Amino acid sequence: MKVLKIANIPGDGVGKEVVPAASEVLNALAEVHGGIRFEFENFPWSCEYYLEHGTMMPEDGLDRLRNFDAVFLGAVGNKELVPDHISLWGLLIKIRREFEQVINVRPAKRFEGIQSPLANPKDFDLIVVRENSEGEYSSIGGTIHQGEDEIAIQNAVFSRKGTERAIRYAFELASRRKKHVTSATKSNGIVYSMPFWDKVFEEVARDYPGFETDSQHIDALAAFFVTRPEKFDVIVASNLFGDILTDVGAAIMGSIGIAPAANINVNGKYPSMFEPVHGSAPDIIGKGIANPVGQIWTGKMMLDHFGEEELGRELLEIIENVTRDGFLTPDVGGSHTTKEVSDEIISRVRKLG
Ligand code: NAI
Ligand code: MG
Repeated sequence: MKVLKIANIPGDGVGKEVVPAASEVLNALAEVHGGIRFEFENFPWSCEYYLEHGTMMPEDGLDRLRNFDAVFLGAVGNKELVPDHISLWGLLIKIRREFEQVINVRPAKRFEGIQSPLANPKDFDLIVVRENSEGEYSSIGGTIHQGEDEIAIQNAVFSRKGTERAIRYAFELASRRKKHVTSATKSNGIVYSMPFWDKVFEEVARDYPGFETDSQHIDALAAFFVTRPEKFDVIVASNLFGDILTDVGAAIMGSIGIAPAANINVNGKYPSMFEPVHGSAPDIIGKGIANPVGQIWTGKMMLDHFGEEELGRELLEIIENVTRDGFLTPDVGGSHTTKEVSDEIISRVRKLG
């Protein structure tokens, strides 16, 4: 029996509604499978926790997470209680940074039954691999002078190690998919880091003969996500480019409530963290109508990460069938509750057995 120890951090807002729902789905899958078991432990770290304790997580919080196989997080943020920069940096970003989660992975896929803002979407199924530790989001730079002489300098950092790591991750991922990797670049406008990025991409590509590769400037690529997303398989991008692209990816799916994500620790020293793209959705808290699909699909990414890809595939197929059959929360045009959608998924999971 493979026992998977998962640290659940539901966090704030709808995180508290979708994490329990998704954990129930994972438990049902494990039961049907028979060979794995989830051991979930719940951590109440959130903005409410902050009001009581003055920190988003206890001082030894990271130590307590360290020995889990993964962190399963809902959402963090409640602007009415705690400013966003304190809550996000005190929990979510702290975990990403300290646990060296240097790769962010976000799939986007067309779901039958969920209306995309695209007029006639073809079946797209893509994954963006985003470098998550350096690039344009570095804290190197500074400001000088005041008034009309004021200057701000922000440096981008591209190490060979970080760049190669992200690109190689993308190729490995593509090797289990359509073997097609697209690189997001801007070497016509950014003259040092992007030609370097292109060079490393070409070097890594040589290790993967038989793969289809292409390189697109980020502006055109963002447009292609709208005009022909079905042409892509795996896209690898720097921190900023990946951030922007993945929001387009979530948008063309139809709702941020269904978009999943993973923050991957690739050196095996710390657990990876799985969290949907959406935030705490303050406008719908407590109504029981949060879309659980983003969190459940995030659970599928966790299964893939543990090598349970067959089980992950089965779960995604069930999610797609459930949305196709009209079990939809209001954000995607339905009138079902969180529980009705997740219960339907669970009942179909049980039928696998
Ligand atoms: P948000 O993602 O929470 O909400 C944006 C819109 O999407 C809202 O209309 C919301 O109702 C809807 N939505 C989000 N998730 C949904 C779901 N599962 N089902 C149905 N509808 C859903 O983004 P917003 O409003 O900008 O941020 C709210 C709070 O969440 C802030 O404190 C923000 O800092 C935090 N946040 C946290 C993130 C995280 O933990 N990774 C990511 C984004 C925001
Ligand atoms: Mg973003």
